[in-house]
Amino acid sequence: MIKSATIPDTLDVEAVRRQFPVLNREVKGRKLVYFDNAATSQKPQAMIDSLVDYYSNYNANIHRGIHTLAEEATAAFEATRDACKELINASSREEVIFTRGTTDGINLVAYTWGRKNLGKGDEVIITAMEHHSNIVPWQIVCEEKGAVLKVIPIDDNGELLMDEYRKLLNAKTKIVSAVHVSNALGTVNPVKEIIEEAHKIGALVLVDGAQSTVHLDIDVQALDCDFFAFSAHKLYGPTGIGVLYGKKDILNAMPPFQGGGEMIKEVTFEKTTYNDLPYKFEAGTPNIADIIAFKAAIDLVNGLGKKNIKQYEDELLQYGTQQLKQIPGVRIIGEAKEKVSVISFVVDKLHPQDLGILLDNYGIAVRTGHHCAQPLMDCYRIPGTVRASFAVYNTKEEIDELVVGLKKAIKMLS
Ligand SMILES: Cc1ncc(COP(=O)(O)O)c(C=O)c1O
Repeated sequence: MIKSATIPDTLDVEAVRRQFPVLNREVKGRKLVYFDNAATSQKPQAMIDSLVDYYSNYNANIHRGIHTLAEEATAAFEATRDACKELINASSREEVIFTRGTTDGINLVAYTWGRKNLGKGDEVIITAMEHHSNIVPWQIVCEEKGAVLKVIPIDDNGELLMDEYRKLLNAKTKIVSAVHVSNALGTVNPVKEIIEEAHKIGALVLVDGAQSTVHLDIDVQALDCDFFAFSAHKLYGPTGIGVLYGKKDILNAMPPFQGGGEMIKEVTFEKTTYNDLPYKFEAGTPNIADIIAFKAAIDLVNGLGKKNIKQYEDELLQYGTQQLKQIPGVRIIGEAKEKVSVISFVVDKLHPQDLGILLDNYGIAVRTGHHCAQPLMDCYRIPGTVRASFAVYNTKEEIDELVVGLKKAIKMLS
């Protein structure tokens, strides 16, 4: 959540595009149209330069060094933590734990908080539209502890049935782990309401922010969530790093995740005492270069303004939805009232993968399949979808190319 007087009122998409070098390349003789942003976004030159700068000029391990390079690397590394704190409006930097990504963050909570606090008969609630990374860790811990996994159902539009959610909540509910924005449908879930309801009965809430952090203003204090996990690579940053936010008192009460260097205060063969937050959860040498470079991506997003990004991407979503709906045989999966940047669709009698391969021949990158949300696909009784997901550098002209390409592909396959 950034408050700045320097953010422009509108978004100059051509200027944005110039910052992403990959957008100049061709695929199969056509200019690349990249619509696979929900899987991972493309990277700005400033972030790539930051990686090269670290390795070229101040590569060093962080925190314990007393030499110049170590001090420079530590300062740059910790500057990203401050930028992440601002990005999600955490109340302190101790609450910002660097992870390998959303998956790692959720596993951290499941294996530390979950193992300590879940017991036989306790209940964990997730939604029907979770990514596998917010299903499997809970299944593993529930099985180990004898706890039960409950699922909030959805309607045909891809919206959560909130009355059913309220019915699921009870004294045995210990944690609700819900996706903020569905990667497969684009649905924006009412997480504030989910959190309020869970807190009434004393349950904690983890929000999977993998898809929301790039599109929406995030304020973990206003949401009052207990945990919030996101990945840098969906936010124009590098792969393999992310953040787990947790409320300080809850994190302090949790046992560590992995043991090793950095997470300790003192080690003897008899006993180890653990480091303070956030380092207690950051064992070993982290991905220093990528964490440093992530700040350049956050700076880009802040410079454009989340409000402008959302407004622009909403226009793309509306335009794309309108255009695709006009193609005979196309059915959009997921038509929630609150949606961002994802259009998932199926075409009568055609396999999503065949469509994806033909679109790639026209230089258009989409994702096909179950999108790591197999139970959700089962709800719709489909094997998968074609998914076009938009980022701030996409254009209406690119959507037109998708429409032309899709019409050709349908004709060829029918
Ligand atoms: C909603 C959601 N949750 C979690 C993840 C996992 O993110 P990562 O693979 O970066 O850990 C993804 C990735 O696609 C996602 O879309």
